[in-house]
Amino acid sequence: MPVKLNRILNELSLYARFHFYSEENVMADSGYPDLEAHRLLHYTLIEMLNNKILGLQICAIDAGQVERFLIDWFVQHVTQEDSKIGRHLGQSPTSIPSRTGEL
Ligand SMILES: [Fe+2]
Repeated sequence: MPVKLNRILNELSLYARFHFYSEENVMADSGYPDLEAHRLLHYTLIEMLNNKILGLQICAIDAGQVERFLIDWFVQHVTQEDSKIGRHLGQSPTSIPSRTGEL
């Protein structure tokens, strides 16, 4: 895998972890009822991303597979799961308060 792609994907993994933690704080502060289930989804996404990065490093998968995973992540998680938080907060999913900014 190209060095720059490896650096970008590792940075994405670290930032996603940071962003998820911030999102979980918003859920906790607002009394979101499905916090633990959502936290498990975050954990699973990070594990899957890290496995994809490792797979790419050992040439077990190609960059296209990582790209498809990332697109599915954003489409599925943001539009379906994160939108539930937005509804809980009485806001649109794009205006969920964040302590870290947007991913
Ligand atoms: Fe989330």
